[in-house]
Amino acid sequence: MAIKTVGVVGGGLMGSGIAQTVAAAGYDVLLAEVDQALLDRGMDRVYGAWEMLVAKGRITEAQATEYRGRIRGTLKLEEFSDRDLVIEAIVENLEAKRTLFHTLDGIVKREAILASNTSSLPIIEMAAVTGRQERVAGIHFFNPAPVMKLVEIVRTIATNDQTVAELHTFAGSLGKTPIVAKDTAGFVVNFLLIPYMLSAIRMYEHGLATMEDIDTGMKLGCGYPMGPFELLDYVGLDTTLYAAEAIYQEYPDPAYAPPTLLRRMVQAGRYGKKNGKGFYVGVEDQ
Ligand code: CAA
Ligand code: NAD
Repeated sequence: MAIKTVGVVGGGLMGSGIAQTVAAAGYDVLLAEVDQALLDRGMDRVYGAWEMLVAKGRITEAQATEYRGRIRGTLKLEEFSDRDLVIEAIVENLEAKRTLFHTLDGIVKREAILASNTSSLPIIEMAAVTGRQERVAGIHFFNPAPVMKLVEIVRTIATNDQTVAELHTFAGSLGKTPIVAKDTAGFVVNFLLIPYMLSAIRMYEHGLATMEDIDTGMKLGCGYPMGPFELLDYVGLDTTLYAAEAIYQEYPDPAYAPPTLLRRMVQAGRYGKKNGKGFYVGVEDQ
């Protein structure tokens, strides 16, 4: 089945970037959120990115107009019935995702693919609440979705070859390079990246260096574009904590245990760049 129409659920950091990427690649996109204010915020982020690209001369005003014509926001999941592919990008919470997959399964046409952008949660747990386990997979974009070139396609023990092949072609059509990962917590990249960020927090907790020096060390010593604390603020401390918890649950090794400071930051409502409060005080809002 050729994918032509795409639904994205969740218009936060990732969902808006995914919707932007998919619409710019020529697909018809519907973006769903839980309320009008959040939907407006997600759509504004998409339109704002295209305005920025026009201002920089990367795309023309005519292209921006064409892209805008291919994306629409909605508060009604019922409108997803004709979608060929639905990408879930809601909060990193398994129960919320399972509830959503069950609802989508009752709405979206039988042959469509239901995919999750989860950072770490088991895809099979979402597939299990649907009547189409063979058409459920992970499609994991990286932040910022319009810029990062990788997409992980996560294959469960139930996902069929056709679904993996269609997602592979789809990711390629977005200008991304797909890799296929097994359905294990953290897949490929986050299984390496999350413990690295947790180690940086532990170093800081133990007073081994300042946050700034740890960041400078990794940027200038290893050529990383951001240090671990900048990246934590960028990715979201809440998302990192939930992903770390999911990895630790599957691999109960102290290396994967979320450090107390990360937990305290999230308990204090410091989610990073997305709400302007993170490791670096007063980090600017989106
Ligand atoms: N749409 C299209 N293009 C965009 C864009 C958008 N929304 N936002 C930025 N860009 C483009 C800019 O136009 C710019 O392009 P040009 O060079 O052609 O002008 C380019 O991207 C770089 O942007 P900036 O100049 O604004 O910023 P920068 O050079 O400082 O780079 C960055 C920013 C790309 C984020 C870079 O710092 C970086 O790569 N950081 C690391 C990000 C990373 O590691 N991401 C993975 C996080 S982990 C994850 O995502 C998995 C998970 O599950 C948690
Ligand atoms: P976010 O908090 O910025 O956005 C989540 C959005 O989902 C919110 O706007 C919320 O209102 C919306 N939402 C929640 N329940 C919903 C529902 N039932 N229907 C419609 N919308 C709903 O989070 P994010 O950073 O965009 O992360 C989203 C997903 O992507 C998570 O699974 C996360 O692990 C994953 N992810 C995040 C990153 C990252 O760097 N932040 C990278 C890759 C993957």
